[in-house]
Amino acid sequence: MPRPDNKAENAPLRLGVLISGGGRSLQNLIDRIQAGALRATIEIVVSSRREVAGVQKAEAAGISCSIVREKDSTNHGEFSAAITRCLRNANVDLVVLAGFMVLWKIPEEFSGRVINIHPALIPDHCGKGLYGMRVHTSVIRSGDTMSGCTVHYADNQYDHGPVILQRLVPVEHGDTPETLARRVFEAECKALPQAIQMIANEKVWQEGHEAVFAANATAPRT
Ligand code: GAR
Repeated sequence: MPRPDNKAENAPLRLGVLISGGGRSLQNLIDRIQAGALRATIEIVVSSRREVAGVQKAEAAGISCSIVREKDSTNHGEFSAAITRCLRNANVDLVVLAGFMVLWKIPEEFSGRVINIHPALIPDHCGKGLYGMRVHTSVIRSGDTMSGCTVHYADNQYDHGPVILQRLVPVEHGDTPETLARRVFEAECKALPQAIQMIANEKVWQEGHEAVFAANATAPRT
């Protein structure tokens, strides 16, 4: 990510986190930051739903939280603009889609500064309607022997954009969607902070449709 002109060298990365549900990935980021394992601050959480556990988690952590629901806007452009305003006002460096289940039309000012986490190895088992347990059900039904999670730069399609890193999780004999989901989520809890730290340390950045890695960056697939 190109360093914004107003970001002091070595200042913690200012995050905006977008959620729609339980906020488990949000909680993971809160915990890592509080433990001193991730040099970042969460400046704002934007939720596309009001009555979800993620909102309570944000509030419990004392993080400013805005509810921006698509049904409160007259069209998708207005909805996206409302999200953009929240993020701009909070002056965030990086936007993290952490279980955000609607499309936000990413404006030019946030280009190259939006990442998503998905609980499978994109381009497989992803896209509109494939989230939560549905993803793991899809993996098990397909007979794939390997799953995992992906952190990628986001574009204006669901679960699409250049990959920053993937963590592999083998599908074990007798796995149910629930048992696989548990192990994939453990991988997610490492992958998302790792990707954010790589961006903060300028080990990876986005150029056009590519993720570009610094020479000494870790391998994108582990
Ligand atoms: C994320 O950890 C990710 O696995 C998934 O939602 C989780 C957060 O959900 N994202 C996607 O499936 C994106 N297609 P939660 O807020 O319900 O814990």
